[in-house]
Amino acid sequence: MHSILLTGGAGFIGSHLTRLFVNKYPNYKIVNLDKLTYAGNLENLTDIEHLPNYTFVKGDITDLELLRKLFKEHQFTAVLHCAAESHVDRSITDPLAFVTTNVLGTSSLLLAAKEYWAGKYEGKIFYHISTDEVYGSLGEEGFFTEDTAYDPRSPYSASKASSDHMVRAFYHTYQMPVKLSNCSNNYGPYHFPEKLIPLCIHNIINNKPLPIYGKGENVRDWLFVEDHARAIDVIFHKGKIGETYNIGGHNEWTNIALVKELCRQMDEKLGREEGTSEKLITYVKDRAGHDLRYAIDATKLKDELGWMPSLQFEEGISKTIDWYLQNKKWLDDVTSGNYQKYYEAQYEKR
Ligand code: NAD
Ligand code: DAU
Repeated sequence: MHSILLTGGAGFIGSHLTRLFVNKYPNYKIVNLDKLTYAGNLENLTDIEHLPNYTFVKGDITDLELLRKLFKEHQFTAVLHCAAESHVDRSITDPLAFVTTNVLGTSSLLLAAKEYWAGKYEGKIFYHISTDEVYGSLGEEGFFTEDTAYDPRSPYSASKASSDHMVRAFYHTYQMPVKLSNCSNNYGPYHFPEKLIPLCIHNIINNKPLPIYGKGENVRDWLFVEDHARAIDVIFHKGKIGETYNIGGHNEWTNIALVKELCRQMDEKLGREEGTSEKLITYVKDRAGHDLRYAIDATKLKDELGWMPSLQFEEGISKTIDWYLQNKKWLDDVTSGNYQKYYEAQYEKR
């Protein structure tokens, strides 16, 4: 039995995690605290929002007074911390937004939990969800393990690395019962179309250019988002306090090969002549400081907790494309900004 403060539940990964926990653990109480930035979309949760073990609170994780009030009101026994500014390109244009939410926000949550739990840590968990980008950039060989030294290179990854350090500092200094995971690139339904895969799906549907940064030779390790949520569930329940677990798909693609695969599958699904969508590929100026390659060694998670990805990439990407084709309203609402009216209609007028 847990009362969980889940932050960022209206975002991409957060919504899958919320759905998994609310459905799988009807005796847990899940409070989703989300600021509803441009990336937060309550339409991601319409299928579970009516369930009795789910509550939504609109608020900012940097608001310490709000956090204190929520801890008292809901007597949280655990935190699942997903809220973050998450897009590397945005961190290049507005780094302070990333420092504010990712560093100050995480530190505020840690402090609120420390104050409320007041040293009574039996049965408590502070789970921090992080990224493989904290480890920096790989060459053509090798993998990130849990022991790889931190070497963040973008304002986004530097802010996430900082937040990881604060979480570990609370473990060592105050014995806060923390768990961390660092995951590779996720893909799947409800992914905001500023990120490579949903952006390309949206543009292929609309016959718009597919912008490839630089030469398209950068490599990412892609994992289906529901597999990430399953891994978090396993670590939350069985992982050791104070430990970090890497989560990855063992599924590396160069950006150009990935986009070509998307084009191939979408031509087939849209009944277009083979090669049609590939003509939309457009090479554009590279991302500043663009990390060459990320690849995760997830052996620890497999050996200690038995987790493995469940979906092969070709199947996962096919499922993802089908979801976007069947949910054009979601995509239209997100790209037109209409999704931001959902909160008003659903909550403010009540
Ligand atoms: P996202 O951008 O889709 O969602 C972030 C959510 O956090 C949104 O709902 C947003 O409204 C909310 N939020 C932002 N600032 C907030 C604040 N100050 N207070 C309260 N809520 C706030 O992000 P995502 O891609 O789902 O990533 C979720 C977490 O997983 C992040 O911590 C990210 O670093 C990590 N992660 C993401 C990936 C990936 O591929 N997307 C991979 C590994 C780790
Ligand atoms: O590795 C985990 C990280 O993966 C997460 O921590 C981040 O939150 C998440 O956004 C993601 O970061 P990336 O920068 O790898 O994802 P993105 O989808 O932005 O880009 C994937 C690759 O595609 C990257 O090499 C940049 C490139 N790209 C991206 C966009 C948006 C393009 O070539 N063109 C584009 O238009």
